[in-house]
Amino acid sequence: MLRGEKILSFLLTVLLSSSVLQAQVRSAISLEKGWRFHKGEIPGAESNAIDDTNWEQVVVPHDWAIKDPFDKEIDKQVIAIEQNGEKIPTEKTGRTGSLPYIGVGWYRLVLPEVDVNNKKATLVFDGAMSDAHVYINGRKVGSWAYGYNSFHFDITPYLQDQGHNLLAVRLENKGLSSRWYPGAGIYRPVNLVLSNPSGVRTWGMFVKTPIANEDYARINIRTELEGVRNKNLKVITTITDQSGRIVAQRKGEFDNVQEIVEENIDITKPKRWSPEDPSLYCAKIEIYENGRLLDMDSTRFGIRDVQINAQGGFMLNGKSRKLKGVCLHHDLGPLGAALNKAALRRQLQIMKDMGADAIRTAHNMPSPWQMDLCDELGLMVIAESFDEWKYAKVKNGYNRLYDEWAEKDLVNLIRRHRNHPSIVMWSIGNEVPEQRSANGGRMVKLLQDICHREDPTRLVTVGMDRVDNAITNGFAAVLDVPGLNYRTHLYETAYGKLPQGFILGSETASTVSSRGIYKFPAIEGKEVKYDDGQSSSYDLESCSWSNLPEDDWILQDDKSWVIGEFVWTGFDYLGEPTPYDGYWPSRSSYFGICDLAGLPKDRYYLYKSRWDTVESTLHILPHWTWDGKEGDTIPVYCYSSYPEAELFVNGVSQGKRKKDPLSRLDRYRLRWNEVVYQPGTIKVIAYDAAGEIAESKTVHTASKPTTIYLKADKTILDADGKDLAFVTVEIRDEEGNLCPHADLPLRFEVEGAGIFKAVCNGDATSLEMFHEPKMNAFNGKLVVLVQSVEKSGTIDLKVKGPELNTASIRMMAQ
Ligand code: GAL
Repeated sequence: MLRGEKILSFLLTVLLSSSVLQAQVRSAISLEKGWRFHKGEIPGAESNAIDDTNWEQVVVPHDWAIKDPFDKEIDKQVIAIEQNGEKIPTEKTGRTGSLPYIGVGWYRLVLPEVDVNNKKATLVFDGAMSDAHVYINGRKVGSWAYGYNSFHFDITPYLQDQGHNLLAVRLENKGLSSRWYPGAGIYRPVNLVLSNPSGVRTWGMFVKTPIANEDYARINIRTELEGVRNKNLKVITTITDQSGRIVAQRKGEFDNVQEIVEENIDITKPKRWSPEDPSLYCAKIEIYENGRLLDMDSTRFGIRDVQINAQGGFMLNGKSRKLKGVCLHHDLGPLGAALNKAALRRQLQIMKDMGADAIRTAHNMPSPWQMDLCDELGLMVIAESFDEWKYAKVKNGYNRLYDEWAEKDLVNLIRRHRNHPSIVMWSIGNEVPEQRSANGGRMVKLLQDICHREDPTRLVTVGMDRVDNAITNGFAAVLDVPGLNYRTHLYETAYGKLPQGFILGSETASTVSSRGIYKFPAIEGKEVKYDDGQSSSYDLESCSWSNLPEDDWILQDDKSWVIGEFVWTGFDYLGEPTPYDGYWPSRSSYFGICDLAGLPKDRYYLYKSRWDTVESTLHILPHWTWDGKEGDTIPVYCYSSYPEAELFVNGVSQGKRKKDPLSRLDRYRLRWNEVVYQPGTIKVIAYDAAGEIAESKTVHTASKPTTIYLKADKTILDADGKDLAFVTVEIRDEEGNLCPHADLPLRFEVEGAGIFKAVCNGDATSLEMFHEPKMNAFNGKLVVLVQSVEKSGTIDLKVKGPELNTASIRMMAQ
C-alpha cells in the first residue's frame, strides 16, 4: 500500500466521538499514543530542535501525579475554611490529595502524517490540567487556562505540508489552586479533526426539541457554518434512531446562506429520552455545493421535555419527579484524573444500580465521555462550571481567571455539551462567596444570561450555602433554580421568600463514613473524630454544616415544592478528607456513598432502599464478627425497602421494627439498638406492606481467614488496550463468610492479554500506592483493576496473601 493510501485507510477506520462513522469529508483521529512527557520546565521545549528521546513515553489520557508517593507536605494549606464556618487558620493536609499535581509539565507528540492539502485541521482537547499553551512546530497556536473545559484550535496555518508536525503542550498547575485533587496533565482525550476548510463550525450543530410530546416531536437543527463562499447550498438532514433506521429526512435548497442553516423536522410517536428509557437519535447534516459534498457532521441527541416550575416542580416528559441525584468529583480514585471510559461507565452504573437518576458534575465542567455515558445509561445531569467566581476560596483558584475567562468558559461548556439530552440544567457556580456581596445578584444575572443566550432551552442553578445573604441581596431571586447546599433549616424560609416557588437540594447530606468501620456506641454526632482516622458506618456522623440522609428525605416527602437532591457524594474522591483534614495520614474523602474503590458502604443500601423502585433492598449492618465483645451492646440496623422486619440473634427474636413516620431516625431505617453480641448468626425477616413475609437475610460470625474470593465486574474485555475489569477481592473464611477484620497484605499478578493496572482498598488513611501490585485489604476487601492490551486472548489475575489459598480468575480480551 502506498503511504497516502495507508493514511486514507487509517482515517476511514477512525470513529468520531459520537461513534458515528463519518465519510471522508470529516474525520477524527484520537491522539492517544506516542506522546512524550517531561515533568518540570524546559525553556523552549516547544521547539522542534529539542531532543525528547529521553522523555517518558505516555499514553493520553494521562495524569502525571497519580503514581508518585503521597506526601503530607504537598500543597499543605494553613487556612480557615470559611465555607466550613472556621474562623482560625489551621494546618490542612491532604486537602488536594497529597499528590504532586503542582508544577510544570510538557507533552510532545509528532502528529500522524495526514494530507492537509485543502483541508482544515482542528485540535480538540476535552480538557488539560491546566493553563494549556499549545504549540505546533514551535509556534504558539493558543492557550486555555481552565483545566476542566474543552477547547479547540485551528492548527491548519501552522502545519507543514510535508511530513513531521510537532505538537507541544505546556501545562502548569499552581499550588493553593484547588479544594480537592485536580489531577495533572492531559487527562482527557485529544482529537485531531480533519475537514474541508469550509463547512460546519466546530461544535456548530445545535439540536433542540421544542415540541416533544408523546405523539410527535419537532426537531430543530441549527447549524453554524464557516468559510462558505457559495451562498446557494443544498442541505440534507437525516434523523436516525438508535438502530440506525432513518426516521426522517429533509432535503433543502438554501439561497443566500450567511452563516446558519436551520431546519425543522417533525416525527411522530418519538421514543422520548428518560432515565428509564434512554432512547437516542442521531442528526446528520450533509452540505452540498454545486453537487459536491462540502461537509457532513452529525450529533447524537435525545427527544425530551424538561420543565421546572412552581406548579409541577421538576417535570420530565410531562411527569413530575424528584431528582434522585449524587454529586461526583471528576477523579477516578486509583486512576487519578486520567479519564477511562470503562471506569466512568462502572462508576455511573453503580450509581444507577442504586436507583440514582441524576448526577451533578461537582464542581467542574464535565468530560464529553461522561456526558455520552449519561446519555446512554440514562442519568440526568446538572453540568456545573465553577467553584469560584471573582472572590477567592483558595488563593490561586478560578478567581485569577474570572474576568478574562468566565464568559469564554461558559460558551465552550455549552457549545460542547448542549446536544446531550442527559443535561437538564446548567450550574454556574458552587457556594461562590459572591452570595454575600452587594452585586451578587448582578453577577448571577450576567452569567445566567450568557447561558440563556447560548442555550435558551435549559434553566440555570447555583449551589448556595449563604442562603440568608443570597436572599437579601437578590442573588437567589435572580436564579432560575434556587439550589440549597445543606441548610435544611432554611428551606422553608427560602421557599417563603423567593419568587420561584420551588427549591432544589443542590448538595445534600455530607454524611461521613468509612466502609466496614463501626464505632460504639452508635450515636449521632458532628465532626466526630477517632484515633484511627476513620468514621463510623452507622451513618450517624456528619459535619457542622451538614446532615443525615433522612433530613433531606423528610423535606422531600413532606414538602411538595422540594424538587429533589444531589447527595455529596456518590463516590469518595481524592482530597478533602473532612473531618480529618488536620490528621495525617488521610488523603481522600469520607463523604462517598461508595468508597474510593467504588465498593458500596452501608449508606449505599440506605439510598437504594428509597431510590430503587424496581429491586427490593434488604441490608443488615454491622458485620457480626466481634471477638472480645461478647455480652456488649451492638446495635443492628436494617436498610430496607420493606416497611417492617424482625431480627433474630441465634434464632432468638429481638422484636419487630416498623418504619415510624413520626420518628426522624426510624422513619427510613429499622433499628435494634439494644442487641447483645453473641457470636453466631443474625437474621432479619422482612414483611411487606400487607404484613406478609417477603424476604430474609442472614449474617454469620466469620472464623479464620483462609480463602480469597474474586468477582469481576466483567469477564469479557475489549482487546483495545484501554478496557478495564474491576475485580473485587474479598478475604473469607472456610464457609465463605467475609472476614471483616482481615486487613492482610495481598499481591497481584496478571498474565496473558492484560496487565495489572491499579488497586484500591478504599481506606482514606492508606499511603500505599495504587499502581503497585500489592496492597493490604481494608476490612477484608479491595478492588484490582486489570487492563486489556491490544491483543485478544485470556487474561489471568492471581491474588496471593499470607496463609490464604491463592485465587485466580480468568477473563478474556476479544
Ligand atoms: C460543600 C462544598 C463541597 C464540599 C462539601 C463537603 O460545602 O460545596 O465542595 O466541600 O461541602 O461537605
